Amino acid sequence: MNFAERMSRLGTESAFEVLARARALERQGKDIIHLEIGEPDFDTPAHIREAAKRALDGGATHYGPAAGLPEVREAIAKDVEGTRNIPAAPEEIVVTPGAKPIMYFVITALVNPGDEVMYPNPGFPIYESVINFVGGVPVPIPLREESGFGFDLDVLERKASARTKLIIINSPQNPTGGVLELEQLGRIAEVAKRHRIPVLADEIYKAFLYEGEFASITRFPGMKDLVIILDGFSKAYAMTGWRLGYGVMPPALAEHVTRLMVNTNSCTASFTQLAGIAALQGDQTPVAAMVAEFKRRRDLVVAGLNALPGVSCRSPRGAFYAFPNVKALKRPSAEIAEILLNEAGVAVLGGTAFGEYGEGYLRLSYANSEANLRKALERMRPVCARLAG
Ligand SMILES: Cc1ncc(COP(=O)(O)O)c(C=O)c1O
Repeated sequence: MNFAERMSRLGTESAFEVLARARALERQGKDIIHLEIGEPDFDTPAHIREAAKRALDGGATHYGPAAGLPEVREAIAKDVEGTRNIPAAPEEIVVTPGAKPIMYFVITALVNPGDEVMYPNPGFPIYESVINFVGGVPVPIPLREESGFGFDLDVLERKASARTKLIIINSPQNPTGGVLELEQLGRIAEVAKRHRIPVLADEIYKAFLYEGEFASITRFPGMKDLVIILDGFSKAYAMTGWRLGYGVMPPALAEHVTRLMVNTNSCTASFTQLAGIAALQGDQTPVAAMVAEFKRRRDLVVAGLNALPGVSCRSPRGAFYAFPNVKALKRPSAEIAEILLNEAGVAVLGGTAFGEYGEGYLRLSYANSEANLRKALERMRPVCARLAG
């Protein structure tokens, strides 16, 4: 079989590959602690599961409109208005199976071959993968530890031009846990407005903020028409396996994205969508409880990592990842991750799984039990001590 040339340009998300390898080791009888995959270890709250069961029993088992059920788009628009303090209308919402398709659809709809796209590096690997896939030119914006893993705004301002067709931002951020300051968001908004560049704002971790208040780039005057918000239910409501997310975008773009939905998925599962209404409108205390628990785990993991030989770790302000500096271990980060998996039975990701500027770091998801996190840190100690020499 001959594969299309474009397939050589499509990347992947290593977390799923490392998960598969870790599972293979488990089948051989090895005990592995999973800190590689980014999903809450909590169950979906009971009232959301009940709503899905009711929806199934009520017959929500058929095709629905490609852009999402009207009542679900309505509920999302209301939620967006409440959480971002901006007006939002149902025709600006497209519901998708998980939030990830919004990246693929928006990049496909906006980027021609040869167009430049700016995106965070280290960052979620699918951005760069899809930019390459559509023939765009990836322009990575480095996130540096020294500046709390915020955007290198000087690079952004220098490189933005008429060739730039999209800026992707992500705050709170995967993999660093960094959060863009209001002032940084303001400067990005100025660049976007100056050159009329759309901004894809990945806000999937907005609930996981441990200090300060969430700020969306949509708050800056004139940005509403330029911003596509990516958000969803996977993380905040512990619904990764349900596949439910959405984008908020100007209606003209929403029409294109809806056509991409017709061509790929037809629609998002109807009973899942109805459970989404229960998530948005129901009791929010499970979300708050999960975030409070993650904050405790963050503090435990950061303290534990800083006590390991050759490892230093800033305290991430958001998301549920630690991104420790392991430069003193004098190995490529992918190799260190491999050694930790094979020798310590701890599955983590090398920083380069998130781009070239991730070299020298590891990503650990602390969405795991306190007991497992303590055990992982203990197991990592002798390996780090040996590598630190
Ligand atoms: C930054 C970021 N955006 C989007 C997603 C995708 O979320 P979903 O599972 O809803 O597709 C993830 C998932 O890991 C993520 O880390």
